[in-house]
Amino acid sequence: MSENLSHSAQESRPPRADKKEELLVQIDRVVKTCHNCRLWRGATHAVPGEGNPNAAVMFVGEGPGYHEDKLGRPFVGRAGSLLDRLLSKNGIPRGEVFIANAVKHRPPDNRAPMKDEIRACLPYLMQQIKVINPKVIVPLGRSALEVFLKEKTISDVHGKGFKVGNRVVFPLYHPAAALRSTSVLQILERDFKDLLKILHGDIIPMEIEVKSRDKNQMKLI
Ligand code: URA
Repeated sequence: MSENLSHSAQESRPPRADKKEELLVQIDRVVKTCHNCRLWRGATHAVPGEGNPNAAVMFVGEGPGYHEDKLGRPFVGRAGSLLDRLLSKNGIPRGEVFIANAVKHRPPDNRAPMKDEIRACLPYLMQQIKVINPKVIVPLGRSALEVFLKEKTISDVHGKGFKVGNRVVFPLYHPAAALRSTSVLQILERDFKDLLKILHGDIIPMEIEVKSRDKNQMKLI
């Protein structure tokens, strides 16, 4: 995709606030015509992501589901309603954060995205992170976690902050998992309360060893 993006979207320093929207639109445009993996074939709409281009917090889900695919927007189905409820309960307007996914086209039959699909889509997520420059990245569930903290399991790291370069990665259980299990919902609700504390530095994130991240993950910082 790099040839299709302007030079400034690829620079290592984050762009000026007033340029970010334009750069995100450029990324969206490339995502919408992307054939880098098989997923586009079964999809109705690409779902690049949406939200505040200057967000301090960026959520990363797994991939679009049925409703997201129909509308071309992330987290607009049942899992999205739960995410909205958690945001609102914690005083965070949805429009203030940015919401994206590890893969931008819907995997068929609600299956999880495959590793090669996530790898093929990773450059888009990396570009979005570079442009938005969030302080905190919140991977939702296992597939998104793997992008950021490869060797960790969501059951071990949910609700803990990890310093990755100059950002904090704060993994949470996926809202869809919370819809299937009351105990996961309770954990998610409890963890979510720490998000603003993580953002404001009231909880000190753990340092993570560089060797536990692969080369692609290194580029995220
Ligand atoms: N689940 C996800 O992981 N992402 C969405 O956008 C919707 C549901």
